[in-house]
Amino acid sequence: MKDATGAIRLQPTKSEFREHSGPIFMTSSFQYSSAEEAEAYFSGKIEGDIYSRFSNPNTTELIDKMCHLEQLPAGVATASGMAAIFATLSAHLKSGDLVVASGSLFGNTLYILQNILPSWGIDTILVDIKDNEGWVKAISKKPKIVIIETPSNPGLQLIDLEWLSKLSKQSGSIFAVDNCFATPIIQKPALWGADIVIHSATKFIDGQGRVLGGIVLGKEEFISPVFDFLRRTGASLSPFNAWILSKSLETLEVRMERHSKNAFSLARELESHSGITSVSYPFLESHPDLTLAKKQMKWGGGVLCCNLKGDKYHAFNFINSLSLLSITANLGDTRTIVTHPATTTHSKLSPEERAKSGITDTTLRFSVGLESIDDIINDITDALEKSNIE
Ligand SMILES: Cc1ncc(COP(=O)(O)O)c(C=O)c1O
Repeated sequence: MKDATGAIRLQPTKSEFREHSGPIFMTSSFQYSSAEEAEAYFSGKIEGDIYSRFSNPNTTELIDKMCHLEQLPAGVATASGMAAIFATLSAHLKSGDLVVASGSLFGNTLYILQNILPSWGIDTILVDIKDNEGWVKAISKKPKIVIIETPSNPGLQLIDLEWLSKLSKQSGSIFAVDNCFATPIIQKPALWGADIVIHSATKFIDGQGRVLGGIVLGKEEFISPVFDFLRRTGASLSPFNAWILSKSLETLEVRMERHSKNAFSLARELESHSGITSVSYPFLESHPDLTLAKKQMKWGGGVLCCNLKGDKYHAFNFINSLSLLSITANLGDTRTIVTHPATTTHSKLSPEERAKSGITDTTLRFSVGLESIDDIINDITDALEKSNIE
């Protein structure tokens, strides 16, 4: 089954009501016809739902669809993307273990690695995403987990999944990829050797900025500890959110195609504007990793970043002059969003750390939505003119 067909057609068995569209199973627990049957479920003699912290038909449907899309056999659904990342790290690491991570990770992932795990005796080496020698040196220390994002947030820098996966395997490390920016429609890290693929489903998977959610996918041996951790610690996905996310997957492919098309058009338009000093978008001719982008990504995705002429004052003036775009820190929505990373999503990093991720006071991140591209471009070029950025 192709991506789109699986994302639409994979559903649990229909109920006695013969519904066409899958219902929501808003139930905390599942009932038994006898004490013996309850015992059989709890002992594992009968497989099935027991309690929605462990599993629920809606989360199972979502996981099945995501497994299909990422071409991985097992998964768990979590309350948010951060719960997915935290559960993955907590389930696989113990005191004395080492993590090797990209320095260009989502800020809260870096927070877990730098502020929570050290107090549990787990150290992290951060590597500049573009420093190949640094990766080789750090991974030679045999970390338990290597964790990355590609494309990175917000700089849209790439790393070669096949190369890093081979390097991780040589050291016996688990290779984990946060695939939030690309989605499985655009990039399937498991095809390049990733052991674990993580998603913030809050972003493109929901696609309309409504619910939080997260997913961890991989081979059974990598997912089973994460399932056990979640089952006991409780950051499970609610059936309602799972239902929303599963419905959203039905349109993921068409949405990602349009997001990518709009983002590519906007990236080219910005590149030709005299008020913009640089644009980063994986499928632009000027992207330093265009060849790699074309190797591991089907399209360029819905996010781009650029630098304006001027300083923070100009960047704020520009943002305040927009009338159509939304000012918010989310991404992956139908609505085009502008974010000023230095003062919002990445404000907790030091200026040096921000510089390493390619963020300055004039960096803007656009999550390009599904509106007509003419309206998106007009709003941005009007705002550039109104704020005297030429
Ligand atoms: C790349 C990436 N990973 C993880 C997360 C965290 O996801 P959530 O907000 O669903 O916890 C985000 C959120 O922006 C993100 O951009």
